[in-house]
Parts: sequence; structure tokens; C-alpha cells
Amino acid sequence: MDKYEQVIELAKRRGFLWNSFELYGGSRGFYDYGPLGSTLKRRIEQIWREFYVIQEGFMEIECPTIGIEDVFVASGHVGGFSDPLCECKKCGEAFRADHLVENVMDAAATLNAEQLTQVIREKGITCPECGGEFKDAYEFNLMFKTTIGPGTGRQGYLRPETAQGMFVDFQRLSRFYREKLPFGAVQLGKSFRNEIAPRQGVIRLREFTQAECEIFIDPRDKSHPKFERFADKELTLYSRQAQEEGEPVRMKLREAVDQGVIAHEFLGYNLALTNAFLTKIGIDPVRLRFRQHLKDEMAHYAIDCWDAEIETERFGWVEIVGIADRTDYDLKAHSKVSKTELAVYVEYPEPKLVTSFVVKPNMGKLGPIFKGKAKAVAEALKGLSEAELSKEEIHIAVAGEEITLSSDMVDFAEETVKVSGESLVPHVIEPSYGIDRIFYGTLEHAYDAEDVGAKAAESGLKGQEELDELESAAEEEVGETRLVMHFSSAVAPVQVAVLPLLTRKELTDPAKAILAKLMDKNLMTAYDDSGTIGRRYRRNDEIGTPYSITVDYTSLEDKTVTIRDRDSMRQVRAPIEGLEDVLYDLIYKGRSFESAGKPFNFQINSE
Ligand code: GLY
Repeated sequence: MDKYEQVIELAKRRGFLWNSFELYGGSRGFYDYGPLGSTLKRRIEQIWREFYVIQEGFMEIECPTIGIEDVFVASGHVGGFSDPLCECKKCGEAFRADHLVENVMDAAATLNAEQLTQVIREKGITCPECGGEFKDAYEFNLMFKTTIGPGTGRQGYLRPETAQGMFVDFQRLSRFYREKLPFGAVQLGKSFRNEIAPRQGVIRLREFTQAECEIFIDPRDKSHPKFERFADKELTLYSRQAQEEGEPVRMKLREAVDQGVIAHEFLGYNLALTNAFLTKIGIDPVRLRFRQHLKDEMAHYAIDCWDAEIETERFGWVEIVGIADRTDYDLKAHSKVSKTELAVYVEYPEPKLVTSFVVKPNMGKLGPIFKGKAKAVAEALKGLSEAELSKEEIHIAVAGEEITLSSDMVDFAEETVKVSGESLVPHVIEPSYGIDRIFYGTLEHAYDAEDVGAKAAESGLKGQEELDELESAAEEEVGETRLVMHFSSAVAPVQVAVLPLLTRKELTDPAKAILAKLMDKNLMTAYDDSGTIGRRYRRNDEIGTPYSITVDYTSLEDKTVTIRDRDSMRQVRAPIEGLEDVLYDLIYKGRSFESAGKPFNFQINSE
């Protein structure tokens, strides 16, 4: 089994991820989150909210997952959100044409359907399933279509990104934030893409969760008010140039912006914020980099885009976040289709005196003469220069008709007025997170199969022989392999396991009392009294429970328990009194394990 298979095997067995519709044979591109998976995913989402909603101040909104057609005509998704599809003439299996071609040439992703068909013919590429020939490739729109209302209804689409909700609600958001740039909003929710052939398990889903933030900024000033926070942070950057040279570079953010590697502070700040979030939830910083999109791979709306990519064993580097400068593309596109101005009024620090040439058609005279056409005549006059308006006879053309006017029909003058601001169409910076891929990344980066003996020695624990000599004591089962999820405590689905050493009432009663106190503290706690203590530790290692509490006979004498640290397998003995606060601090406040109690490095054997 490769790493992906090992991780997915554990994820299925322990209730993180299940194939959807398994009862009916399943369907590619869909996964269910089991009890532990849902909890882990919610924790990731909740930390994301802490970053973007609480710390950055971008409030959350919730829009429908179904959109009306106008939205996606404006956004460009109806016209251009497609992948090249190739079907086998013999078995009917569908493939991404660019994926078929990328085995025989570079840059397959830049070819259109016609060019891909040509390469497929020339290179004699046949169906990997049955060896059959392919039909011509064509562009397949990835949006799921639906009908809104009964009968023929109205065309609708399941949203392919949550982002459009923020653009469509722009006017409301702008008023909510009193038109003070920068402002932003986030949305977490499901998006849908009818992927042609999702063969990468949880990496490519047809229904997936996005966490997206649209930040509306002043296009004239892309500095970031909090840039200093991350200015000295070092990131792994794989810029376009670095990609040509073949190696990512480690660079401080300030250097990267100063040298133009990252286009501006606002984008840079958001790369660093993404880095902070991903490492907080347990993505391994060594297996994390930021890769700039090549010019020909950028989405239709972006002028610059960086992906946060993580390294996985089976799929190589996988995009998990896209951070794009979408400019004013979306607001202008929606403005055009909705025929509504989508802009903010930006006040100047000091009002400006602006002199302009003003044309004032005399409607009192134009009206009786031109009647219904008077307005069009007035508009045409406004387009004339001072020289043209200064003539005795003024000539204009309205709807192809030549019209001559006398000079008394229009006044004009240079006027100077005080202007206090101007309307601006904001630019948009968008960090867009693929939560399911991030979820998988936290699984794979947390996963380890460790030799327990080696681990115990590394942690300074006593060896098995030594322990056997101790009366009724046994250490971790030295010599065996343990599967362990080294989740960050912040995301671990079960935070504390409470384990009475034996299923005897004198031990289970105090264990249950501890459980109740931990639950009161809002800690996700599991109670487990079945099997040997070693086996129960293993079960909790597998689901990444960071701390296990064991209640033993000493607990009855001195009102203490052992707390076991999942990663080091070390134990401390700590008082039951105040235990819930100690656990809370270990999990949320970064308290060190060593400070949690008196070292204790063996446990009573349950057998
Ligand atoms: N909003 C960016 C994306 O969905 O890819």
C-alpha cells in the first residue's frame, strides 16, 4: 500500500472518510465525512473563521448553492468554465483530453480541444481502459445544470465557486462596510464541479467545500495596513522565474515584494496569512510551498495567482489554496450584465478644484422643435468641442440624420467645481481554500507508522525488560508498530480519552466523573474501557487523540491520574482537581506537557 492507500484505509476504518453511496456501489467524486472526519473538518473550518472573520474582520455571508443563469453568464462560467473531454468510441469511458496528452508532451494544459484531438490522432493515443479509438475532444462545461421551478422553469446552475455570492452582494456589502476600503466577506460552503473523470479520490471531488474570502481593495494602493506583521516571515516561493530555473527559493516576504517576486503587499500578506493558517492546522511546513501560476494557466479572471501547494506521496505537489488578484474583472462583468454601477465613492483627503468644459443644451428651445428626438440631440451636443460649438451653425448627426442648429440652442462654459471624491471600482484579492484537500493534507502529514520500541527509547521511556521487573507494570508494547495521527491539538477530533484501567466500578465511577468535568469544559472527550490499556492507547493514537487520562488504583489513594502524551508517549501524574484546566491549557494554550504534572513513565498492566 502506498501512503495514500494507508491513510485512506485508516480514514475509512476509523470513521474519517467513507465512499458516498457505498450501499449502492458508490459514485466517483463524492465522499462522506464520518463522525471523526466531520469533527476534524469543522475544527479546520472554525480555525479558518478565527483567522479570516475574527482576526481579519471579514464577515461571513451565506448565499444559495444554486445560482441563476445571469450570474454565471456575467462571471464567465457559462462561456468558459470547461475542460477538454475525450470519449472512447468503443467503451464510452470519458477522459480529460489534456491528461491523456500530458504523458506524451509538456504544456498539454495550454492546448484547446482541436489541438488536443490532433495530438491524440498523431501520437495514436488510445483508451487506457480498452485500447479503443477516441472521438474528437470537445470542451465540456463543468457546471451542473438544473432547472429552477417546475416545467421548463428557469435555467440554474449549482455554483462552481462560492466567490460569486460576494460579488453579487457587492452593493449590500459596500453599504454594510460604509464604503471604507479595504473590506471583505467570506463564505464557507459547498461548490460543485462536474469533473470529467475524477480518479484521484478525495483530491478531486464533484461536490466539495470551499472557504473563500473576497477582499475589495483600492486599485490605486495595494499596500497592506498590517504588512509588518509578516514582513520578516520566510516563505518557500516557487515563482515563474524559479520554475524556469527549477528550484523554489526561501525568501522573506519583504524581500519578495521589494524585488517584485510577489506583485504587491496585499497579495504577499495573504500568502503569509495562508502559511500561518496551514501550519497552525498541522500542514508540515517542509511539505508546503507557494507556486505562482504560469501566464497561460491562470483563470480567466486573474492577473496574478499563487497556489499554496502541499507535497503528497502519491499525487506529488497538490494545490490546496489559490490566492488571486482578480482585479475589477468580476465587479465590471456583473455591472455590465446587471446594468448597475458597482463601485465605491472614495473621498479625497482634501477636496480638489476641477475645471471642466460644460455643455448646456437649451431644452426650452430644443424641445418644441425636435420633440421626441430632443434628448438625443442634446446628448449629441454634449460630445462637441468648444470650437464646434462656437460656430454660427452647429452640425450634428442623430441616428444617421444630419441636423443643423443655431448657436442660441446651446450654452457652454468652462466651470470650476470643488470635487470631494470619485467613484472607483475596487480590485479583489481572493484567498480561496479547498477544504477537502486541506483535510486530506492534514491526514497525510499527520500519518505515521512508528516502531514503538524506537519511539519509547527516543522519549527516554524504560524498556520492556526493565519494566517487566517492576511489579504489575508494563510500558507501551515495545516492538510493535503503532499507527499514529500526529494531529495538531487544535484540530484533533477527539481531544482527550478517559480510560479506567479496569472495568471495575471503583475505577469507572471516578473516570466518568472526570469525563463529565472535561465535557463541561467543552473538550471533545471519549470514554473507553474495553481491551487492554495498550490497545486503548493504540486506538487513540490512530485517531490522533493528543492526550489520554488513565484512572488506576493509585488514583483512589492520592486523587491523581496519569496524562499520556500521544506524540512522545510520555506520561505525567497530575491531580484530578483542576485536571480539566490543565487539559484545556495543553490543547488550546500551548502549555508544555512537562509542566502538566510529575513525570511518570510506566503504567500499570491491565492484564
Ligand atoms: N474562486 C476560485 C476558485 O473557485 O477556484
